[in-house]
Amino acid sequence: MALEKLVNPHILEIKPYQPGKPVEELERELGIQGAIKIASNENPHGPSPKALAAMRDALGDMNRYPDGAAFALREKLADRFGIETNQLIFGCGADEVLELLAKSFLRPGDEVVYAWPSFAMYPVVVKGMGATSVQVPLDEDLQHDLDAMAKAVNERTKMVILCNPNNPTGTTFGKRAFEAFVKSLPRDLILVVDEVYWDFARSDDFPDTLGCIAGRPGTISVRSFSKIYGLAGMRIGYGICDAELADILNRARHPFNVSRLAEIAAVAALDDTEHVERTLRLNREGAELITREFEALGLRVWPTDTNFMLVKLDRPGTEVYEALLREGVIVRPLPGTGLDQHVRVTIGTPAENQKLIDAVRKVVGRAPAGAA
Ligand SMILES: Cc1ncc(COP(=O)(O)O)c(C=O)c1O
Repeated sequence: MALEKLVNPHILEIKPYQPGKPVEELERELGIQGAIKIASNENPHGPSPKALAAMRDALGDMNRYPDGAAFALREKLADRFGIETNQLIFGCGADEVLELLAKSFLRPGDEVVYAWPSFAMYPVVVKGMGATSVQVPLDEDLQHDLDAMAKAVNERTKMVILCNPNNPTGTTFGKRAFEAFVKSLPRDLILVVDEVYWDFARSDDFPDTLGCIAGRPGTISVRSFSKIYGLAGMRIGYGICDAELADILNRARHPFNVSRLAEIAAVAALDDTEHVERTLRLNREGAELITREFEALGLRVWPTDTNFMLVKLDRPGTEVYEALLREGVIVRPLPGTGLDQHVRVTIGTPAENQKLIDAVRKVVGRAPAGAA
């Protein structure tokens, strides 16, 4: 059957998302053991132990559908953030929340303004609805160019997406820049602030997105349990917004889009302060070590507010990526994004960080400063 005559034409224009290479695949290809994947910004320290215990206890109930309203998680998050329970939307990962936003608001002819390079799923969800991406280049410090983004907004703009901290650069914009940008925006468009790495950005200057929601309905903060809580495999994310927006998104979702086990895991993970603090500490220590060692090799490492780092190389990132694969280390090259001479590395466990450093030293081929 000639499917190309039937398919929505914009679907064929989507470039499928390229996930990081699985460890098992690399080990099979090279016939090795002990490869590491530090390419997908997962939590390398495992899932929250409290979430694991709660999931084990709940396994016997998996013949039951989930609570479609996610009552327990809703109550807990509302309490934590001082919001009403009707200001939340849950999804199969933050990815689904982004998709619900696209499905609810975008159609062909609409424009979506976002910075670039940024999260690779934005073009996918925009194109998925036949809408048009308007990608505004990051500035020379790899920060959001909020002035240029404001200028890119016109009468066709239906949505603006800010990724803060930004993936793949790890860069963050602060309160003042955010507030000025929000003030400059027309009221009748959706402002999506993707704050999936928010938990790692502990600066006092981090924007108060939740405060902004009260004054600007149509604003949503998108967050995830995939990162700091170590639940990427469970697929659960959420959005915080005003009640009217949550009601619209709620209409667009499947009734059981978050699994029973995912909700149980998320509720328990929120109470696992020990796991969160440990993750933050190890992440900070890992970032410091990698920065020190890479800088000693003459590489530029961008400061990060996340669990990953952007590294500037003196040659194409894909070349270094391929060479690191042969050392059993999977990182993320960024070809075609304007960051071709960079790779993105997730901060790993102490052992993974050391393996990365040793492999990069070998591949980049320079002795550490001061070494004989
Ligand atoms: C900026 C950003 N937004 C959203 C997501 C999707 O997160 P989730 O795993 O909750 O779907 C990611 C995942 O890496 C991301 O980096």
